[in-house]
Amino acid sequence: MTCFSFLFRRRLDSSTNQPFEVEEEFGIHNVKLYTYKELRSATEDFSLANKIGEGGFGSVYKGQLKNGNLAAIKVLSAESRQGVKEFVTEIKVISEVEHENLVKLYGCCVEDNHRILVYNYLENNSLSQTLLGSGHSNIQFNWKTRSKICIGIARGLAFLHEEVKPYIVHRDIKASNILLDKDLTPKISDFGLAKLIPANMTHVSTRVAGTIGYLAPEYAIRGQLTRKADIYGFGVLLIEIVSGRCNTNTQLPVGEQYLLEQTWDLYERRALVGLVDISLNGDFDPEEACRFLKIGLLCTQDTPKLRPSMSSVVKMLTGQKVIDEKKITKPGLISDFMDLKVRSSEKTKSESKCTSSYNATFSSDNLDNSTLSSGTSTSATMTFNPPYDRSV
Ligand SMILES: Nc1ncnc2c1ncn2[C@@H]1O[C@H](COP(=O)(O)OP(=O)(O)O)[C@@H](O)[C@H]1O
Ligand SMILES: [Mg+2]
Repeated sequence: MTCFSFLFRRRLDSSTNQPFEVEEEFGIHNVKLYTYKELRSATEDFSLANKIGEGGFGSVYKGQLKNGNLAAIKVLSAESRQGVKEFVTEIKVISEVEHENLVKLYGCCVEDNHRILVYNYLENNSLSQTLLGSGHSNIQFNWKTRSKICIGIARGLAFLHEEVKPYIVHRDIKASNILLDKDLTPKISDFGLAKLIPANMTHVSTRVAGTIGYLAPEYAIRGQLTRKADIYGFGVLLIEIVSGRCNTNTQLPVGEQYLLEQTWDLYERRALVGLVDISLNGDFDPEEACRFLKIGLLCTQDTPKLRPSMSSVVKMLTGQKVIDEKKITKPGLISDFMDLKVRSSEKTKSESKCTSSYNATFSSDNLDNSTLSSGTSTSATMTFNPPYDRSV
């Protein structure tokens, strides 16, 4: 602590030379440090017109950097602000991770109280706004594109889980964290961000800690965070991409509201093909589409250990590995554990076809006190402090 306040004082004392100072103190030579002034001018003073989104960590702005590059500039909210040292440590980790299917971090700004991340700007927005959005997008997601997107996401996640040392659990795999570049190559965003949340921040939004429909039951209920929880989220996403539907849609008839439940039902009735997006007009290989759906089911099995690793998922998606159908067991569904009271509501998000809306408060320690109540917000809050479990 003494050491930290010393560093902080030094940083403030020599504000004119601050970027160099931080770099010298923490040895982040490979991370570009932006001045607040530079980011302010890139975003025209963080103008509303340049705001492109708002997530659990803060607001995101589109900006043009001095070198002409377009950037997505993520201003972390006060809650998710950390001390300089912790922040810079995590930034170093994130910036060293590079892969075709991961969003590139250009650098950051750690001036005064500001904690800002600067990412490569992806022109084709996120899967939640395009594929699962309410039809504002001009992108045609034909089968070939969908298959390329699924395989790309799987490769990005396999890289985080199995090649990066120490490995990274993403913790928030969902459609809005899959961005598309101009060629529709998928890029996973926000990896490593979960660790930027200060440890004492136990009351976090699910927009930070995972969104309900993508949450593996063991993570939501017991706070067990492993790579297998990410794989569960990936399985849900895979089924969303093939079906073109959100994981939860309370405007649909009962029995069809939860995508995963419906997928299992159709699988048992040997009618999985009925789930494939009708907007493909039948222009897809049914064997391949059903294979993808079965892989989605393999990834969302209730028992974490039964879920395949991401590298085997890649092999199964590309056809290098055969799926053993006998191995598919029932998916883990949060609704099996809790009485989720979900009420349909008016569309609260114009960008999305997902119409579920609930506020959930439950604690990982005390299931009996779990309460889930309907509300009008699309975000949910949960109270738990999930440990990183590296055993699975
Ligand atoms: N690198 C990026 N390029 C383009 N748009 C981005 C980028 N990063 C984030 N966005 C946009 O900003 C929105 C908010 O992002 P974020 O704060 O991560 O919240 P969430 O992931 O919960 O939507 C995203 O949904 C996306 O539309
Ligand atoms: Mg995000």
